[in-house]
Amino acid sequence: MYQEFIESFLTYFEGQSDGIRIFKSPGRVNLIGEHTDYNGGFVFPAALTMDTTVLARPRNDRQINLIATDLKQMVRANLDELDKWKHLRWGNYQLGVADELQKAGYKLCGCDLMYDDKVPLGSGLSSSAAIEIATAVALVALGDSYHGIKREIDMVDLAKIAQKAEHNYIGVKCGIMDQFASAMGKKNMAIFLDCRDLTWEMVPLVMKGYKLVIANTNIKRSLGSEKYNERRSECEKGLEQLRHIFPDASYLRDISVDDFLTYQEEISDETIRKRVAHVVYENERVIKAVEALKKDRLEEFGELMNASHDSLRDLYEVTGVELDTLVEQARKVEGVLGSRMTGAGFGGCTVSLVREDKVQEFIERVGKAYNKVIGHDASFYITEAGDGGREIIY
Ligand code: GLA
Repeated sequence: MYQEFIESFLTYFEGQSDGIRIFKSPGRVNLIGEHTDYNGGFVFPAALTMDTTVLARPRNDRQINLIATDLKQMVRANLDELDKWKHLRWGNYQLGVADELQKAGYKLCGCDLMYDDKVPLGSGLSSSAAIEIATAVALVALGDSYHGIKREIDMVDLAKIAQKAEHNYIGVKCGIMDQFASAMGKKNMAIFLDCRDLTWEMVPLVMKGYKLVIANTNIKRSLGSEKYNERRSECEKGLEQLRHIFPDASYLRDISVDDFLTYQEEISDETIRKRVAHVVYENERVIKAVEALKKDRLEEFGELMNASHDSLRDLYEVTGVELDTLVEQARKVEGVLGSRMTGAGFGGCTVSLVREDKVQEFIERVGKAYNKVIGHDASFYITEAGDGGREIIY
């Protein structure tokens, strides 16, 4: 399989296959804990087996060249003038990561890079984090070898740097969840992550007799759309209004459900109060969901997924008719314990917990009903948790 990639790499960049290295990084599905990460809260994602593969070969100059298997136009840039490249339609994630790595002190070298992206773009499954982390691990590994630096790559640091690239190059003030999951994912594990201090616990994703099924609305979500940043600033406003009561709170995560119930009237704007309510309850749901999964209480896990979606629909208002239709139809199928949107919302995907013997029926029924209401097809993927960003020794 890699042989084909290598041949295709050589048609773009010529030369020898010696020195070509292969790196991979996955997309993610978030099981619960949505729009909590930038509020210093809890998330519970798993890395997917769908990923981005990068073939990378060092050069002896400062040139960085990018191509993708599904694109014909090569992007050629120079590592010493990366600021010029912020407005590319394709390539800005990669060059943003290169820029932020250098600003953080990593010594890179020129290189040729070829991408093969298998995470559906704009699907809410973090295709962008997959590209960012694959790029980061490739650039650091190549740079280290080139400059004779020997060390184990700090994947959490790469996640933070990739997040910065997304802030500064793409203009989305995202949290850390996607980059962290893509960098740190482990086969058959979900990651219970505390986004305030980045402590985490790997939780075995064992769901006896059940499967996680992802359904794609096939409505592309553009994270760049103002809405994401707008939600983030609404949360900041909410926290500001509670600060005189909780002067030490640095994130909404520091407000408990009880605190919220006692002081919610301090938040004068109703919309902002709703946003805060979502975050406060969602954090509590994540903690309960992790416990439920550990104790094999899948019904409870499913109920928490449902409550999370309803809150994202009614309080956070980031779902939309496509996601709501998928969820509504999913919940009608016998053997479905829970169904919710995953990722930022506004299109993208849902994730449902479906009894194994009902998966086929689920795909048929939900697919048909979705097409009838929305007018185009949804796509379905049966999920397994995969490994995070890494080099492939082939
Ligand atoms: C996007 C962002 C994440 C997170 C989710 C919502 O995926 O990149 O940081 O905020 O939305 O939970």
